[in-house]
Formats: sequence, structure tokens, C-alpha cells
Amino acid sequence: MLNETRREQLDKIIKRYPYKQAALLPALHLVQEQEGYITKEAMQYIADYLEIPYGHVLGVVTFYTMFYDKPMGRHHIQVCTNISCQLLGSETLVSHISKECGIKPGETSEDGTFTLSEVECLGSCGTAPMMQINDDYYENLTVEKVEAILKSLK
Ligand code: FES
Repeated sequence: MLNETRREQLDKIIKRYPYKQAALLPALHLVQEQEGYITKEAMQYIADYLEIPYGHVLGVVTFYTMFYDKPMGRHHIQVCTNISCQLLGSETLVSHISKECGIKPGETSEDGTFTLSEVECLGSCGTAPMMQINDDYYENLTVEKVEAILKSLK
């Protein structure tokens, strides 16, 4: 399941913990980094590798929004709609992105370019409204800034 490089990385990570079961989150990150999302087969692989019940792995994957159990767009746009961002216009931004990309929150564009999600506070309230695209934060957003960002990603 994991390629050789990532399996070696996982083995190194496991050594940092008193129990290998504690390496579950980094193990899932490695799978997602490699595959883009975490299939049921990958969950079983990790469960076997770390000697954890499959149900526990499934529970973790489905609990954390940072893990995906289905294919995502190349650019995952996560707009914070929590209170600070909401007060400063995040709903307008979501509507604008929806219109520009032709998708509603929770959907992926047909060409696989964008997935749009509304998320809870991303810890950047001082620079609201903000969004995260893949690993990058975009802050102090306006409709114009969002338009320019989307254009650069298309
Ligand atoms: S409320 Fe949006 S980052 Fe905290």
C-alpha cells in the first residue's frame, strides 16, 4: 500500500512513540499524501500495520475533516465560516467561489480541479476572512482577492 519511501518514513515515525498505535495520525497523513485520499483498503492496511482495530482507523478518518475518504479536487478550497470570518463576509466569498467554480460546498468540479468546503475556525481569526487551499492560507480576503486566486489556479 505505502510505497517503500513512505513505509520507511512510517517506520521511523513509529520509533518516536512508546506504542506503534500512537503513530496513527502521521500514518494516515502519509497514505493521503501518496494517494490523495484514504480508501477502505488503505484503512485496513494501516490497521494491520499498526495493530489497531479497523473500526478505530475508520472512526479517526471520518472524524477529522483533514482526512478524505473520497477523491478530492486538485485544489481543495476550505473557507472558514466561523464567527470572525462570517462577520467579515465569508458567506459572500463562499457564494462567489460556488458561482465561479460551478460547485456547492461539499462538491468537486467535474474536471476535478476544485473541491469546495465550509470549515470551522482555522485559527487565523485575526486575518479574517480567510480560506485554506491545500496547505496554504489566504487571509484578509475580499471578493477581488478570491477572484485573482481562483484565476491563478485554473
Ligand atoms: S473564525 Fe475564521 S479563522 Fe477563526
